[in-house]
Amino acid sequence: MIQHPTTPLPDADPEIRRRAAESLRRLLPRVEARVHDQIEPEAWDAFTRRLEEHFPKLFLYLHLLYGSHYDFLFHLEDILTTVTQAWLERDGELQALDALRETDPRWYQSSRILGAACYVDLFADDLAGLRERIPYLVELGVTYLHLMPLFRSPEGDNDGGYAVSSYREVDEALGTMAQLRELSTQLRHHGISLVVDFVLNHTSDEHPWARRAAAGDPEHQGYYRLFPDRELPDAYERSMADVFPDDHAGSFIYRNDMGRWVWTTFHNYQWDLNYQNPKLLDRMLGEMLFLANQGVEVLRFDAVAFLWKEIGTDSQNLPGAHWVIRAMSAALKIVAPASVIKSEAIVHPDEVRRYIHHDECQLSYNPELMALMWDSLATRKTAVLHNALERRLTIPEDCQWVNYIRCHDDIGWAFSNTDILASGFDPDEHRRFLTRFYTGIHPGTFARGLPFQLNPATGDGRVSGACASLCGLERALELDDPKEIDHAVRRILLMHGVILTLGGIPLIYLGDEIAMLNDYSFQQDPERSSDSRWVHRPRFDWDRAEQRHDTDTIPGRVFQGLLRFIQLRKQHPAFNSSNTQLVETGNDHLLGYFRSHGEHGVLVLANFDDHPQEIEGRRLRTLGLRKTVIDMVDGDAIFAAQSLTLEPYRLMVLARPQ
Ligand code: GLC
Repeated sequence: MIQHPTTPLPDADPEIRRRAAESLRRLLPRVEARVHDQIEPEAWDAFTRRLEEHFPKLFLYLHLLYGSHYDFLFHLEDILTTVTQAWLERDGELQALDALRETDPRWYQSSRILGAACYVDLFADDLAGLRERIPYLVELGVTYLHLMPLFRSPEGDNDGGYAVSSYREVDEALGTMAQLRELSTQLRHHGISLVVDFVLNHTSDEHPWARRAAAGDPEHQGYYRLFPDRELPDAYERSMADVFPDDHAGSFIYRNDMGRWVWTTFHNYQWDLNYQNPKLLDRMLGEMLFLANQGVEVLRFDAVAFLWKEIGTDSQNLPGAHWVIRAMSAALKIVAPASVIKSEAIVHPDEVRRYIHHDECQLSYNPELMALMWDSLATRKTAVLHNALERRLTIPEDCQWVNYIRCHDDIGWAFSNTDILASGFDPDEHRRFLTRFYTGIHPGTFARGLPFQLNPATGDGRVSGACASLCGLERALELDDPKEIDHAVRRILLMHGVILTLGGIPLIYLGDEIAMLNDYSFQQDPERSSDSRWVHRPRFDWDRAEQRHDTDTIPGRVFQGLLRFIQLRKQHPAFNSSNTQLVETGNDHLLGYFRSHGEHGVLVLANFDDHPQEIEGRRLRTLGLRKTVIDMVDGDAIFAAQSLTLEPYRLMVLARPQ
């Protein structure tokens, strides 16, 4: 078994450094000769300085991956050429951004960063339409915009664009690559960083590489994982779990035209790429750097857990997957230091954290927080959430969580069994309870959602649903019950209040800020009906958004409530650091944490119960509140001498004297 990346790596090893320096000394003149007609001497000097800094890491990870290949140096030269070519193609404005970010490398940790995600077509029809909607994003305070996959992909079912047929072409219906480049500039001029997916685990079966592979071309066959018979697929599958069991059992499909078994972790039209082949890594590096050169400032690395496979393992989260990303990250630092990588690893929380590192993914989704906030909302208790945050919220100080409530995907119950056991529940039974709760089956539930990849035999599954519907708004409106409606709105605000005050980059799924509900129309669409995730991917309702300034309406209450948290987060200095410390509130319904930065501090208290909950005066004083303080969300005065009662689902931010 190859060494795990969390064991100390030999990056300080003088021998590796010596070999890296020696390789660079030998290869750089050859690469320079290949591109000499494009070089300006001063710029070349600056580039070689960056190479000297980051090439040792690039070398190290490539060496760990491919050092045993007899032609390692040949591949290294090709990769260095790809990197150099990408640097030569980087335009002036982006070079300026690189220089800026090199002076402020932790720019993504500022509390001014607010994330939002949307599908271009569902939000604004196309890229031109999106440009028109920039004022809306600015009004909300967005500074980080994740546009869901927008590349050329197969007609019809294409996994919401996650089956990419070309990394260099935008889906015709949305616009062109030139428009995307212009949009990235426009967004940047409004203080918004463009975030785009880099779907690097697989391509669609219509990608030209896959087409050539299917036509029998050996080079392109080497880009994928193809097998003439079941011997190796069987050997792999003995220790693997199914990822998309509704689509196909196992991880392989048989292609008659090629007479080959193809590795397809997700849908059968998404062919897994073969990173065991250094040529493929070189090609994908080229695609990634191309995207960075379009002005993409955050590359969302999709499905990173699956990048490397080995017989006898579950082929998830293997060291090779980390090394592939680290090699890419080093190349990105050389070509486009303005850009960073965000990991999408929806796996065990301990594994999620392993991708978060200065040399790997500087940002990461926080699926554990997401799942456990839904858990707290269902159970009305916060102990599991509290304990998990205490244990795992801290990540390397130059990295950042991306905290979210809903995204385009299902909710998987990706928390640790140990944490659930510690609170006295059986983990599998608890997951089934949550699935039943959020699919509206559990008695007394407020939620409306749909099952995703449900196993009817075991009841195991995941959940689809829009934030507002899962928070009870859909049911409350059906019942026409004002109290339930009020509670649903409070739940939406509570969930957003937590991600907006906890630290990390808060990421809003656009539509949630105006409390959009589940959209069941996908059930009539044969291409989508088998994928319940479409229930929470509604077309953005601009008429509803018109009500956002009127707090007598539900969209208005939610939008204005969110704005309050957003402004508070941007303006109070206590939020401008990653310093979050969980506190014991003495009441299991209440989650509490301090945020602090320098001399500034606040105490956040959040009630996950549908009843008022109390925190004792004694406890408040232990938490440092000795006099009257004002809740910076609603303006109420709190007398620390007395006990404090939080209304159902209320979140308070109290100034804390240091
Ligand atoms: C990621 C995406 C998901 C997609 C999968 C395969 O998990 O978020 O939507 O189905 O990768 O690309």
